[in-house]
Amino acid sequence: NWSMDDFIELQIEKIRETVGDKKVLLGLSGGVDSSVVGVLLHKAIGKQLTSIFVDHGLLRKGEVEQVMDSLKGKFGLNIIQVDARERFMKKLTGVADPEKKRKIIGNEFIRVFDDEAAKLDGIDFLAQGTLYTDVIESGTDTAQKIKSHHNVGGLPEDVQFQLIEPLRTLFKDEVRELGERLGMPSALVWRQPFPGPGLGIRVIGEITEEKLQIVRDSDYILRDEIAKHGLEREIWQYFTVLPGIRSVGVMGDGRTYDYTVGIRAVTSIDGMTADFAQIPWDVLQEISVRIVDEVAHVNRVVYDITSKPPATIEWE
Ligand code: XMP
Repeated sequence: NWSMDDFIELQIEKIRETVGDKKVLLGLSGGVDSSVVGVLLHKAIGKQLTSIFVDHGLLRKGEVEQVMDSLKGKFGLNIIQVDARERFMKKLTGVADPEKKRKIIGNEFIRVFDDEAAKLDGIDFLAQGTLYTDVIESGTDTAQKIKSHHNVGGLPEDVQFQLIEPLRTLFKDEVRELGERLGMPSALVWRQPFPGPGLGIRVIGEITEEKLQIVRDSDYILRDEIAKHGLEREIWQYFTVLPGIRSVGVMGDGRTYDYTVGIRAVTSIDGMTADFAQIPWDVLQEISVRIVDEVAHVNRVVYDITSKPPATIEWE
């Protein structure tokens, strides 16, 4: 596609002109947008780019490895990986309210990023994966605010950087096209939306390591089965949740009293409205069997059959 190649050439020129011999910082979230910005900037200014990737312990199974293997391993980005799992867990212990959890995760994220940025010398620019839709949405204060959404990679408050936002004129599908033109792996480019607070809002109520593990493992099985059956592009977003209730079951010749896992899968255009995805029964059956077999402390699987509205996509 010639126009996307032109866009790449033009952006690279622009970035080089703006940055000169100065240094740029980027917050990687593991998502499509910041990853594409990373690869584009690396192409333009190479070692003048430093990226920070915060592991808050709320990422999906294999996500840290996937980002590091491809962006650092394959593309050669200079990435500082920060293990902040304990830091987040400490702040979240005992907190059950969804909005409080979101605020804590968002604030802590900025703090960790800030602490790491402060260790670096001579950074003048901060790169962000702002899209055209973000530009429009932040321009109106009438934007519906049902949940206090936050995007990882927020701007540290007391550090003054100049912003570089090379995706500001693009829509999501164009960003994916850009990623493909840059040779990025399709698993990264076609990644389903994943909220900034991550698995933290998929463990309903208070977060514990055990519950995180259940959500992480069941989510992995769900993704594996969806991929196996070639349904990835048909379903807009799919994940598991842990409502935290336990119920009675029977396994072998014993009674169990264990957790229920919920499956959420929706079709949507933009996440504003959504329908529950009509996953074939036999696929659901395989997923259910595997989750109960392979994930400890789970004896029941339920499927969320509500659309948005009245439900939201996430359970918190
Ligand atoms: P809801 O649950 O509001 O979700 O129907 C709509 C879309 O937004 C994502 N989402 C978030 N994304 N920070 C984010 O970056 C958040 O706090 C957040 N909450 C929800 C959700 O995954 C879905 O794609």
